[in-house]
Formats: sequence, structure tokens, C-alpha cells
Amino acid sequence: MVVKKLTLKNFRNYEEETFEFTEGLNILTGKNAQGKTNCAEAVFYLCTGSSLRIRHDKQLIRRGGDHARIFAEVESRYGAITLEAAIYENKRELFVNGNKLTRSVEFLGNMKSVFFSPGELRLIQDGPDERRRFLNLSISQTSRDYCTALLRFQRILDQRNNLLKMRDADMVLDTLPVWDEQFAKYAARIICKRREYLADLSALAAEAHAFLTDGAEVLSLSSEKEYKGEVEVVAEKLQRELSAGYERDMRLGFTTVGPHRDDIKISIDGADARGFCSQGQARTAALSMKLAEVAIFTRLTGESPVLILDDVMSELDLPRRKKLLARIKGLQCILTCTHAERVLYGTESNKIKIHGGKIV
Ligand SMILES: Nc1ncnc2c1ncn2[C@@H]1O[C@H](COP(=O)(O)OP(=O)(O)O)[C@@H](O)[C@H]1O
Ligand SMILES: [Mg+2]
Repeated sequence: MVVKKLTLKNFRNYEEETFEFTEGLNILTGKNAQGKTNCAEAVFYLCTGSSLRIRHDKQLIRRGGDHARIFAEVESRYGAITLEAAIYENKRELFVNGNKLTRSVEFLGNMKSVFFSPGELRLIQDGPDERRRFLNLSISQTSRDYCTALLRFQRILDQRNNLLKMRDADMVLDTLPVWDEQFAKYAARIICKRREYLADLSALAAEAHAFLTDGAEVLSLSSEKEYKGEVEVVAEKLQRELSAGYERDMRLGFTTVGPHRDDIKISIDGADARGFCSQGQARTAALSMKLAEVAIFTRLTGESPVLILDDVMSELDLPRRKKLLARIKGLQCILTCTHAERVLYGTESNKIKIHGGKIV
């Protein structure tokens, strides 16, 4: 999968600019705060319908502008497609091949990308939210079914929590059993899909980590809580857990059972990575997870995703940089950095220099 052309209008600090990307390595260079990450963010937005940096889309609109537009021409194994997002203060419009979508889940995954930036350290060092976000975004790109289940689940969860907060025991006992059937149904779909994904991810991430560290470290990933069996079995188990927890949930005012509470356990050489690993180890572990994500996308879709490496080269030591470059050969990669010559080592690339929201 290759993004050939990207046009930004009133997006972040871009007034209007068109990027022409090649297969293989594309390097965006420029001083700080010129628009390199903004460009990478736009590509990711077209893949997932969301940005990793912000919660509100309107921050994407250029200050003083009315709305932002991102447009891309993409070459996939099924032929050429165009993707477009128009982002307004309070709404957005999404288009695939010029057709306006009515459901935003249809936007997901037309182009797939894996995004890696220094912020991805959070994946290892922060709380479970980051890891669930990673799972959700990653699985959603290849499974609309997952994405739909997730949206429905989220809605039921919000309603359930609102009800619990009222602390009206009669109402809870009256209403929850009915809701919990729906809750368990979607939750089980999420749990089973994550389980399947995590099995692949952990094997591939372990392999990538061994490659990056020359076998010096062993990375392992597993789910914090294991549910066995098919979707129906998991749903039944969840429903039992939910009914057993009414009192506790009411006391706390939120739902304590379900995939919104799950976490990935990450360990390096057997020790919990979150508390014990160094900055460098965490960086390598996060990178391994992202390389595993690339491998999973490739396996599931038969073509490689667009890899976005935002500002990560300067944080890796020389051997790891070289290994990373060797590893990503053949993928389309959009790499941002301040000095191209420091990361390239003779690798051929399409260099694009950015200054003040313009290509120079
Ligand atoms: N909505 C916006 N309108 C105008 N400028 C913006 C907007 N959002 C971010 N910027 C500007 O974009 C610049 C940062 O761009 P970024 O791509 O993160 O830089 P870098 O080249 O270092 O990766 C900053 O100068 C910031 O003020
Ligand atoms: Mg940047």
C-alpha cells in the first residue's frame, strides 16, 4: 500500500501544500515546529479517522481558517483509491473515492498505517489506557466488526455507568440484567478479537525485539486477564461476573468488569517492563510492538501498511538505527527528522524539506 499524493488545505500550519511520496523511504526534514509531524499526522488521520495527538478535531483546523481538508491518492492491491476528510469546527465529512460516507467506520482501514513516535514510550510506561488505545486503533484498522462492537460497547458502558451513579438499587436490579446481555455480547466480541490479535502480536513483537537487541533481551506480551472459549462462552462468563458485581459497581459508580478494564502485561527478561525497564529498553520494546503491528497488517491484508516514523531516529543508537533501516526495506515509510544525513547511511530516499508549513 502506497500513499502517492497528499494534499493539505488549512490543516495545522499548512495553508495549501501537496506532497508527492514515492514507494520506499520518504524523508521529511526541517527545523523544529515547521510541520513535519503535522504532515505525518494527516496521513494517519486518513487511515484511522483520528489523530494520535489530540482529542478534538477542531485543533487540526489552521488558526484563522474555516475548515481543514486532507486529501490523498493511494495505491492498493485493489487499485487506486482516494481518501478525503473535511474537518469543520463541529463536524466532519469523510469521502472514499469521492463518495461521502454515512458511517465513519467505513473510513477506517482503507489505507493502513503504523505510527511510531517518541510518545509511543507511553505504551510501555503509562497506565493501561494507552495500551487499550493501541489495541483498539490497531485492531480497528483491520476489522470493522471490531470497531462496530467497540462503538456499541462504549455506548452501553456509558449508559450502564450513568445508571450505577444514580445508586438506585431497585432500578439497577430491574434494568441491568437486560442491558448486561447486550454488554456481554459486545464485550465478548472485543475480548476474543483482542485475544487473537495479542497472540500474533506477542510472537511477532518477541521476534522483532530479539532482532533489535541481537537476542540479548526477551520481550513478552500477554493479556492481564485471560478468558477462555468461544464468544458465546466468554459472554456467559462475563454476564455472571457482571451480576455478581452489582453491589460493588453501585458502590463505586462504574462498571468494574469488561474489556475497558483490561491491560497488556509487558515484560522484558521476565520483569514487568512498566516499573523496571530503562528508557532505552522501553523504546526498543515499543518499536518491537510497532514492527509486529506492521507484520500483522501485512499478513492480514496481503500488503504492507504505510509506516510513519516520526522523530524516532535520533532517539535510537546507531546499531538500532541501522537495524531498523534494514528491517523496513521495501515498505513505504514516511520518516521525519531534523537532519536526513544522520539517519540515512546511504539508503536511497525521497527527501522533502519543510519550512513554515511549506515545502522548500
Ligand atoms: N491549528 C493550527 N493552526 C496553525 N498552526 C498550527 C496549528 N496546529 C499546530 N500548528 C503549528 O504547527 C507547528 C508544529 O508543527 P509540527 O509538525 O508539530 O512540527 P515539527 O516540524 O517539529 O514536527 C507549530 O508551530 C504549531 O504552532
Ligand atoms: Mg515533530
